[in-house]
Amino acid sequence: MTLSTLSPLRCPAPVAPLLPVVGRDTRVPLAQGGSTTYANLDNAASAPALVSVATRVAQVLPHYASVHRGAGYLSRVSTALFEQARAEVGTFLGARPDDVVVFTRSTTDALDLLARAVPQGSRVLVADVEHHANLLSWQRSALTTVLRGGSDAEETATLLEAELARGGYALLAVAGASNVTGEVLPLRRLARAAHAAGARIAVDGAQLLPHRRVDLGRDGIDWIALSGHKLYAPYGAGALVGRRDWLDAADPYLAGGGATLDVRHDAVRWATGPDRHEAGSPNVLGAVALAQACSTLATLAPGALEAHEEALRERLVGGLTALAGVEVVRPHPDDAVGVVTFTVPGRSVSEVAAFLSAEHGIGVRDGRFCAHRFADSLGLADGGLRVSTGVGTGSAEVERLLAAVEQFVGAGPELEYGIVEGHWGPTTDARPEPASFLPAPGANADLG
Ligand code: ALA
Repeated sequence: MTLSTLSPLRCPAPVAPLLPVVGRDTRVPLAQGGSTTYANLDNAASAPALVSVATRVAQVLPHYASVHRGAGYLSRVSTALFEQARAEVGTFLGARPDDVVVFTRSTTDALDLLARAVPQGSRVLVADVEHHANLLSWQRSALTTVLRGGSDAEETATLLEAELARGGYALLAVAGASNVTGEVLPLRRLARAAHAAGARIAVDGAQLLPHRRVDLGRDGIDWIALSGHKLYAPYGAGALVGRRDWLDAADPYLAGGGATLDVRHDAVRWATGPDRHEAGSPNVLGAVALAQACSTLATLAPGALEAHEEALRERLVGGLTALAGVEVVRPHPDDAVGVVTFTVPGRSVSEVAAFLSAEHGIGVRDGRFCAHRFADSLGLADGGLRVSTGVGTGSAEVERLLAAVEQFVGAGPELEYGIVEGHWGPTTDARPEPASFLPAPGANADLG
């Protein structure tokens, strides 16, 4: 049975991208010669910039100047842009009036900040289904319990609820959605369970926020961490948003300018609020980009994101499941975002990923996705292949992926594959070295 015979049944209506992203037309070379349009199916690792985000950054750049400390007009403009960005991110996430939005570098940075702000002696609960950003910062403390997750998100939630009910925890830290299976955790339910047990809840929003709206106030979430590079704003900013008390009482995340009110030779008075944890010159452009991504996503009609990715996910899971020799990991969760992981038993996942890139110009991620404990418990000790969609994905990319995997398990690759310079790749490769694909302009290029 071929996909072309399955297609009309399984994909009645093509799915168009939901929002324009930068680079959807970018061409990449193929190992057998020629080129093709890049099919980015690795959005869960890093998503491309929204066109609106790139446009906003280009608009702001000529007005960029020092923030918070300059008297110049553009310094005041930049300061206003930075603080407006803070407000917009807070609004997007339904922050309560007293919440803080601390700009960080990423989700990892944000969760590390929160981990350092947990009051001394507090017990923290996490499950082993987390990616490393929401595991390692907690696992460093002897007071953290890492619970073994269940066979699906529902069971994991039930296990977490039961553990919380035993009492004694100050914080539950949980992913909004798994970066391996795409499963969505029932956050409102977990928030209720945490609060009933006298604990707070911190959500790792890295994988959830590109796909679903979260409202801290409505959903009862105390903190959420997010990354701009997963939210269509790859300009180096992330954020931690939520309750201010633990953050105000904690040591400043970095010691430096901007985090202080007054410095004497024998004493330092540290600021409270976001400033306390944002020492150094802030990433204004990153913050502006993140805020623009939030504002653009907020314009989508309710349910549009969910419907878009559900259609793509259904086609992906159906198409991959129909192929003999392909196994999809947890193919039918109750609720999931656009992340699908599969294997080709008997074949190295890195070989398959190399083939998809070399012969078809398709980008996926292979390995254990910085979630080693969870991957191992899913039977992915040798890794999996992860396909992840975003607002810039349409049926075209998904159909190309399905046809390519069908070729791999059917007729087989056109080229031979082996370990080349330490990595799987075609043994003959017409592509230029990636380092020479996009040479930097000459040092004087901007001088005309
Ligand atoms: N969380 C990142 C990913 O899933 C590392 O690719």
